[in-house]
Amino acid sequence: MKTIIEPFKIKSVEPIKFTTKEERIKLLKEAGSNPFLLHAEDVLIDLLTDSGTSAMSAQQWAGIMNGDESYAGSKSFYKFEKTVKKITGMKYIIPTHQGRASERILFSIVGGKGKHIPNNTHFDTTRANIEFSGAEAVDLLNEEGKHPEIRTDFKGNMDVEKLKKFIENTGSENIPLCMITITNNSGGGQPVSMQNIREVKEVCNQYNIPLFLDACRFAENAYFIKIREKGYTDKPILEIVQEIFSYADGATMSAKKDALVNIGGFLAINDDELAQKCRNLLIVTEGFPTYGGLAGRDLEAVAQGLVEVLDENYLQYRIRSVEYLGEKLVAAGVPIIEPPGGHAIYIDAKRFLPSISPEQFPGQALTCELYIHGGIRAVEIGSVMFGKYDSEGNLIPPSMELVRLAIPRRVYTQSHIDYVAEKIIEVYEKRSQIKGLKITYQATMLRHFTARFEKIDD
Ligand code: F0G
Repeated sequence: MKTIIEPFKIKSVEPIKFTTKEERIKLLKEAGSNPFLLHAEDVLIDLLTDSGTSAMSAQQWAGIMNGDESYAGSKSFYKFEKTVKKITGMKYIIPTHQGRASERILFSIVGGKGKHIPNNTHFDTTRANIEFSGAEAVDLLNEEGKHPEIRTDFKGNMDVEKLKKFIENTGSENIPLCMITITNNSGGGQPVSMQNIREVKEVCNQYNIPLFLDACRFAENAYFIKIREKGYTDKPILEIVQEIFSYADGATMSAKKDALVNIGGFLAINDDELAQKCRNLLIVTEGFPTYGGLAGRDLEAVAQGLVEVLDENYLQYRIRSVEYLGEKLVAAGVPIIEPPGGHAIYIDAKRFLPSISPEQFPGQALTCELYIHGGIRAVEIGSVMFGKYDSEGNLIPPSMELVRLAIPRRVYTQSHIDYVAEKIIEVYEKRSQIKGLKITYQATMLRHFTARFEKIDD
């Protein structure tokens, strides 16, 4: 394959701090073996998340200076609204400070006890907001998506047959909406095909259930459709994106991903009554409907980011740079979810550390080792994040134990990625020395953010 270069030059740089292994051992211990609790300046390469970590462009920074900070009806809002409408085709665009604010508002209104929300795979904040409302969050991922080693094109697809059965068994009156997450973050950043979105919409139509997209990484998903799905190769990304949204009745969005900004989000809705209710709740908790918890300057940056993210050269570089890391790891035998997803590489910690049982959190143990060995920060997506417990306190582990290396947009260069690959491979070579962990503190919800751990000695 020919070299695909970063489609930008660097105008402003941020130094990164080097630490020694001894320092990192001490720092991680102080952080309770939870990389979330490290000081970011003690991290060399931060792959904790691709959310809010993008480098903004000169045009976005120019937009920041142009932000109109009027409380109501700001010029920046109308620019933002116009851009989001062009992409989504939705009637009402409601700004929020980030994705989970959109989720909270939406599910405070449509959720509640006795309600059920299907999705290909709910992201953790989506699940938490649904469950917090008293409703049930249900994952209906297709079978292929649950097997890290199977290489197919659209492992984020929803299982349409399961969805039909689910609706029949649950009763459509108890399903206020159906969601699809593009790309499927918790399942490996895997894309959903246009055909699948269309089929899900048809089922939803049969039962009169609105379809909502969790659209955080819509542009990355559209690029996968372009390169992998028949009939889309010659279509401009904007057209593909517009088709995706044409099947939806609404969307939640974290602009911190594919809008290439550090903060922001929105709700896009077609239904008049629902939009009105969302706006009213927005005023109570986020702000007036033309700023929704954001500054005017933030809305400018989102509007510009949404234009830049549709650039095909950008998307080609983006998807290729993630794939490049994946290829290096696979070549060295490191087990990852294949094929690589859009925004991250997911190491399969079950196969990486087969001797550590889910009760001893193999994913978390691996994130610790990556930090100690290379100063790299990654995140566990396994039994710490999604583990449940039965009435006797036994762990019910999720189907996968993963470690996510999320690649911030436009931040790291190819040599940073080469370094990351090198360090992971070195950790893989001495994997038999890695020990499991036990929890010493945990919160009742979203425990992975604040839990503390200790190493289990033999
Ligand atoms: N939905 C998906 C698919 C996400 O990946 C996220 C955030 C959200 C919703 C919530 O958005 O953070 O703006 O409130 N994902 C980040 C991540 C946190 O690291 O994957 P938010």
